Amino acid sequence: MAMVDKTETSLDAFKEDHSEKKIDTSRKLKVAIIGTGWIAGAHMEEYKKMPDVEIVAAADLIPGKAKNFMTAWGYPNVRCYLSGHEMLENEKELDAVSVCTYNRQHAPCAIDALEHGVNVLLEKPFTVTLEEAVEVMKAEKKSGKIISVGFQPRFNPNMQMVKKIVESGELGRIYYIQTGGGRRRGIPTPFGTTFIEKDTAGIGAMGDIGCYSLDMVLNAIGYPKPLTVTGYTSDFFGKSAAYWKAENKPANYTELFGVDDFAAGLIRLEGGIILDFRIAWAMNLDTSGDTIIMGTKASLRIPSTECWNGSIGGPMTIYHDVAGTSVGVTTTVPMLPNTREGEFYHKIRSFLDAVKTGGKAPVPTSQIIYNQAIIDGIVRSAKAGREIEIQIPQI
Ligand SMILES: NC(=O)c1ccc[n+]([C@@H]2O[C@H](COP(=O)([O-])OP(=O)(O)OC[C@H]3O[C@@H](n4cnc5c(N)ncnc54)[C@H](O)[C@@H]3O)[C@@H](O)[C@H]2O)c1
Repeated sequence: MAMVDKTETSLDAFKEDHSEKKIDTSRKLKVAIIGTGWIAGAHMEEYKKMPDVEIVAAADLIPGKAKNFMTAWGYPNVRCYLSGHEMLENEKELDAVSVCTYNRQHAPCAIDALEHGVNVLLEKPFTVTLEEAVEVMKAEKKSGKIISVGFQPRFNPNMQMVKKIVESGELGRIYYIQTGGGRRRGIPTPFGTTFIEKDTAGIGAMGDIGCYSLDMVLNAIGYPKPLTVTGYTSDFFGKSAAYWKAENKPANYTELFGVDDFAAGLIRLEGGIILDFRIAWAMNLDTSGDTIIMGTKASLRIPSTECWNGSIGGPMTIYHDVAGTSVGVTTTVPMLPNTREGEFYHKIRSFLDAVKTGGKAPVPTSQIIYNQAIIDGIVRSAKAGREIEIQIPQI
């Protein structure tokens, strides 16, 4: 019998044109940055490419930081402030802000911007707690402005392929998902300790990288509501003096560490789907496993231990039957090249287009609140030592 190769025919449906659209420059958007740290640089790199953007202001709590940042990016004359609030009080014509602060300042800065009538591109994770996310959404609703949450992997063709495969019906009814990933060693302290302190980060591996894995699979299946969660968090590596010694970091990092470096959760989703999730900044293992999406007709394996980079780790595999029999047929889904502009460009471009046209947020809070509810649920369940229900108030 000839070998069945479904690859070409199955994949034809997913081919797409990613060519760049023409940008209307008849209206310039006035944009500012709140928090001029590490990720703000990635925002600036893309804003600089946008012919319809005028960068007008920036703010950072650390004296001189915003000014130095803007000068380094070639904008020595933009107005700089010592807090997002001070900037919003003084800049009356802003169309949009990028909120690039550490996690704990996401909610206050986003709410403040919305209350000043400014659209928000908010870095991930959405917030630290579910309660904060609800408050942000209330402010969004009241303001009539939009928030888009900064999940740039959404704009990567391979990530989009995951969603297209699920939506095509190729997998049948989805009933079990495993996702997550992580690093053997890699607690991020690139420019200090804002990622590891309770007062600045609030959540660790979950907020830094776990939220991406959750977004990859939840977006693919249409963001069903999470109902219950059994969660676990730990901090064995971050609290270990030996860990920081091996990383050549000061001894006080052991004291400063106040978040999760590993988290796991078993989440019951609406529609009878079980989501099995784990994420590690550090572990005694190479990987905590691929992402798998199991369905009644077929299952999908996504080599994905680093999906937060917007990419998958290799070709995906679909396991399915042919002619009603399980004859070991698989379809290899080849890796797609990235768009010419890259996913970060599209994260920013799609937000600007929505602001200009009065359109919907490309990565809407109405979806990401479920992502946040899972993270919040894991934290609460871990504390309680039992399964908990997820309840999201009406907004
Ligand atoms: N999308 C991505 O690929 C990506 C990558 C890295 C980080 N992030 C996210 O971006 C956020 C920031 O990360 P980072 O590495 O740039 O952190 P960082 O600590 O380097 O920078 C944050 C800056 O915000 C400033 N800040 C805090 N509150 C402020 C306020 N109210 N007003 C003005 N400035 C304020 C701080 O002083 C600091 O300089 C985090 O939430 C992180 O999860 C996203």
